[in-house]
Amino acid sequence: VRLLRTFGEVRASRSGSLALVPTMGFLHEGHLSLIEAAGELAETVVVSLFVNPLQFDQADDLARYPRALDRDAGLAEAAGADILFAPGVSEMYPLEPATRVSVAPLTVEMEGAHRRGHFEGVATVVAKLFAGLQPDVALFGRKDAQQLAVLSRMAADLSFPVRVVGYPTVRESDGLALSSRNVLLSPAERKSAVAISRGLLAAAAAVAAGERVGVALEGVVAAEVVGAGGLDLEYAALADAATATRIPALDRPAFLAVAVRAGAIRLIDNVGLTPDGETDPGVRLTRPSILYAKER
Ligand code: PAF
Repeated sequence: VRLLRTFGEVRASRSGSLALVPTMGFLHEGHLSLIEAAGELAETVVVSLFVNPLQFDQADDLARYPRALDRDAGLAEAAGADILFAPGVSEMYPLEPATRVSVAPLTVEMEGAHRRGHFEGVATVVAKLFAGLQPDVALFGRKDAQQLAVLSRMAADLSFPVRVVGYPTVRESDGLALSSRNVLLSPAERKSAVAISRGLLAAAAAVAAGERVGVALEGVVAAEVVGAGGLDLEYAALADAATATRIPALDRPAFLAVAVRAGAIRLIDNVGLTPDGETDPGVRLTRPSILYAKER
């Protein structure tokens, strides 16, 4: 894999179509599944790695975010990346950005309500990646369902000639959705955190059994999370998959999203749902995640 630091170097190095996998690094199997899929979609696969200060509302969350460039380069290469684009802050933001991208109607609720400025930071950095790298396709995990809705809408509204595609959530073998933040959980928090996916799966089972009422589905998740102890529930919300706004009943493609705090660590997860009872709980690893490999 070639490690490049500037937009210009990436544009000069691409050959043929370009697939982009935007990341903040500390890669796990969720990212690797996107990189592998990207290889099927385009000739050049670029993984971007940038811990974007603009999208963190808490300085300690930004400081704590795990970073490991050599590890990530090895993993990206093994998954089939051609280029690892790891710009410094001065390449990404040569000036304090006066232009910021707001996808306001999709960012009022859920993550938008709990993380002030978060989606403006995400949309701004991804718009810069789209403008600076000119990808044909960009791949994102459906674990961040609201982010996927926001970025799909941004690309459409701003006429970026890029296809934005979502891929299934990858989960640890006990169900916890993979996140680079999982390594920051204490053993007790890690154990309690399994209640999040258990709750979502219970709600998906309720959908399969015929339940369509939003508060009922939200209640199933909330009961699991609260019952586990040690987790603070921030929200459980049934939301329209395209507009990321809460809906009273499962009458269109939707996701049931949840956010919790486990000590100082914030975790989010969701399950995709359709009115005809289809559910998208993601896929599970059968081995321990590379997040926990000793040599990290
Ligand atoms: O999902 C992430 O890791 C980030 O929000 C993204 C899309 C790379 C933008 O910084």
